[in-house]
Amino acid sequence: MAPLAGRRIVLGVSGGIAAYKAVEICRRLVDAGAYVMPVLTTGATRFVGPLTFSALASEPARTSLFEGPEPIPHTRLGQNCDLVVVAPATARVIGHYAAGISNDLLTATLLATRAPVLVAPAMHTEMWEHPAVQDNLALLRRRGVHIVDPESGRLAGGDIGAGRLADPARIVEAAVAILSPPTSTVSGGDLAGRRILVTAGGTREAIDPVRFIGNRSSGKMGYAIAEAAARRGAEVVLVTTVNRAAPPGVADVVPVESAAEMADAVLGRYGDVDVVVMAAAVADFRPKATNAEKIKKAAGPPEIVLEPTTDILAELGRKKSAQYLVGFAAETERLVEQAAAKMAAKRVDLMVANDVTAPGSGFEVDTNRAVLIAPDGTTRELPQMPKIELADAIWDRVVSELNDRNKEAP
Ligand code: CTP
Repeated sequence: MAPLAGRRIVLGVSGGIAAYKAVEICRRLVDAGAYVMPVLTTGATRFVGPLTFSALASEPARTSLFEGPEPIPHTRLGQNCDLVVVAPATARVIGHYAAGISNDLLTATLLATRAPVLVAPAMHTEMWEHPAVQDNLALLRRRGVHIVDPESGRLAGGDIGAGRLADPARIVEAAVAILSPPTSTVSGGDLAGRRILVTAGGTREAIDPVRFIGNRSSGKMGYAIAEAAARRGAEVVLVTTVNRAAPPGVADVVPVESAAEMADAVLGRYGDVDVVVMAAAVADFRPKATNAEKIKKAAGPPEIVLEPTTDILAELGRKKSAQYLVGFAAETERLVEQAAAKMAAKRVDLMVANDVTAPGSGFEVDTNRAVLIAPDGTTRELPQMPKIELADAIWDRVVSELNDRNKEAP
């Protein structure tokens, strides 16, 4: 079935060169079965004609609060949709939305809706990096707005940098994920009835109140795993170091910072879950002592003595009863050999090994390339794919093994 069949989506387009890509987003949403109602700002109409959207969407494009026969189009749009997608979202629209100011049909609709909202920003790098824009986005995230971050690449005028609208396919994928039926009640989801704990992000080990030892993990893989599990019907607990909106369908988010906090959160819930996926990059060492005050430069370079943290996954392996454990191995050389050794040492049921130095793989990117390793040493090499697809490939494997276990059980 078309993934967005019967869903009503307001597609807000604001004025930037990326507005032309909104045409493809519109077409993809319609192809996915959605009923699409386009709303263009005045700026957007300078880049693409409303007629283009009218021809592709389910209704003629609207461009103003005061045109047409309806006296209050924003409330009708806002109240009668399942999702509002704003792509591209300019700094102005983001700013108005964050501040609660409505001065056109799009911003009025954003304020008049209770439906989920997905914002895909696009702008020049300098604007994207401006603290005002970043603060506005952080505020929207806290309010539960879904943000599809822009990518780096060629921008208008030939500059290269961050701020290019995310790929239309990614934006539509995010819309599908938001509108997938809420999880644990999904009947027929192949993870329905399973309780799953996922960890995400890199831990931070405090040196003093302002400094920490951290790592490059962005949490994207863990979030994709949690999101896919929820979509497939699981009840998901996400233990995370990342300050990001919860993935759709994940109600239980436990924020942590250090390896010790993560260990407490995970081990404390271990008895209540069926599967644990340790996607987080947990520090192996932490400063033996944390300075209560900021260490001053004038005192000269400090000597930081480190001590080991708890290896959470190894601890889970030791305490395992019926739980299924998925580990990650981030390697820079001899990938399968080193990952397999970790797997045996930590009593893991499935190891996802990735070479973090390979292009399109590892930290901060949206794609990954992994090898799945089973306890008997058999490996399955997966091609480079978006992290959300890798998440589903991992769950396909886990589901089939859990089903086999059920068959074996007396
Ligand atoms: N892990 C953990 N607790 C730690 C360190 C790692 O639970 N203190 C988990 C990670 O979440 C991951 C797996 O163990 O699922 C492997 O992590 P990785 O950093 O690749 O391996 P390490 O065992 O830390 O070995 P090394 O750093 O020497 O490669």
